[in-house]
Amino acid sequence: MLTTRPRGTTDILPGQTEKWQYLEDTIRRLCRQYGYGEIRTPIFEHTELFVRGVGETTDIVEKEMYTFVDRGERSITLRPEGTAPAVRAYLENRLFAGPQPVKLYYIGPMFRYDRPQAGRYRQFHQFGVEVFGSHDPAVDAEVCAMAMDLYARLGLSGLKLHINSVGCPRCRPVLREKLREFFLPRLDGLCASCRERLERNPLRILDCKVDTCRQAAVDAPAALDYLCPDCKEHFQAVLKHLDALGVAYQVDRFLVRGLDYYTHTAFEIMAPDIGAQSSVGGGGRYNGLIAACGGPDTPGIGYALGLERILLAMERQGVVFPGEKRLDVFLATADDAAREKALPLLQSLRREGLAADRDYLGRSLKAQMKYAGKLGVELVAILGSDELCRGVVTLKNMATGRQEAVPLDRLADEIRNSKGE
Ligand code: HAM
Repeated sequence: MLTTRPRGTTDILPGQTEKWQYLEDTIRRLCRQYGYGEIRTPIFEHTELFVRGVGETTDIVEKEMYTFVDRGERSITLRPEGTAPAVRAYLENRLFAGPQPVKLYYIGPMFRYDRPQAGRYRQFHQFGVEVFGSHDPAVDAEVCAMAMDLYARLGLSGLKLHINSVGCPRCRPVLREKLREFFLPRLDGLCASCRERLERNPLRILDCKVDTCRQAAVDAPAALDYLCPDCKEHFQAVLKHLDALGVAYQVDRFLVRGLDYYTHTAFEIMAPDIGAQSSVGGGGRYNGLIAACGGPDTPGIGYALGLERILLAMERQGVVFPGEKRLDVFLATADDAAREKALPLLQSLRREGLAADRDYLGRSLKAQMKYAGKLGVELVAILGSDELCRGVVTLKNMATGRQEAVPLDRLADEIRNSKGE
């Protein structure tokens, strides 16, 4: 146990973290350009927030939450998603009283107790955005376009945007009834959970991954056929904006998302080459959620993308990550006198903005050169008694083998010049 991490979690180590940083940097730049501000909410919240927010009949709430009672006898849940916390923060911090819409983004870990497999973890990371306060279908199109823009900036191709409208509280009861009528004679073909869902939340059946349920649902009624005039108009406007933006999409009549708060637009983005867990992101409108959490009647829309799945897709597609940041210089020392001078010299190089390091294990000069090679360092600055006497350092280019004596006060400039070569 002491040397084994919990199932479904990962250690992100140097070599891999650079890829995460590159992904996060790209996301932050994107968000700045689209006018989003970053929000950081707690990793845990009151359980009630997710039960009410995500929905009692969802897989997340029924089976997947990490919930515990804390020492103050409160029920606490590690956040399984970021929308409900963002809504809570919007209300608690009275962001609704400021200029609208409020455009927020977040990057961070989420927790769901599910069976781990490639692309599915118990602790995973999401980048998400939420827009509060606008009904405009242009926002629906813009958030879809923004997600697709991110994938394109990362060099990913072949991703598919699936989009649907799941209606609103006005048209949903009609659809519910139609679905109930449709599935009632097909009850035997449904899995145990779906049989239960028939009464409580028949829309969920369309989202079931069990083969027999999928077969039973082939000709099921779809929300698109029962949209009220407002929902229909909204959906058509969203598609028109997507066309105008040149964003390719596929209308997917049976797309229902696994969270209960969605109204109107719902979408999901699929990567064909990462296996069964192919959804690299999803989102939609949730016009009733803020009011359901006790706030003013305010519309909302957003999405979240799984960072592990994005990195997986990038690796599968052979995307080349920008070069790893290595040390600019390694300082090798030949004897004790030089070692003594090494630390102040290193500090002065770092103050000059260079990345520099040295040996701390008392290695021989030869072993230090070998170690520098393993680190992939291009320049090694060698300091020995001869160099100390002359007030110079021998700067060696590991790739060409060329070396020259550089006065100490010119060392930083010389390293910078070599970097630019
Ligand atoms: P979601 O579809 O549950 O939506 O999750 C969004 C994305 O998170 C998925 O498409 C997937 O890439 C990633 N993801 C989910 N579960 C896992 C897992 N166990 N392991 C790895 N990646 C995973 C939401 O969470 C909504 N809050 C999205 C949203 C924001 N809707 C409106 N605003």
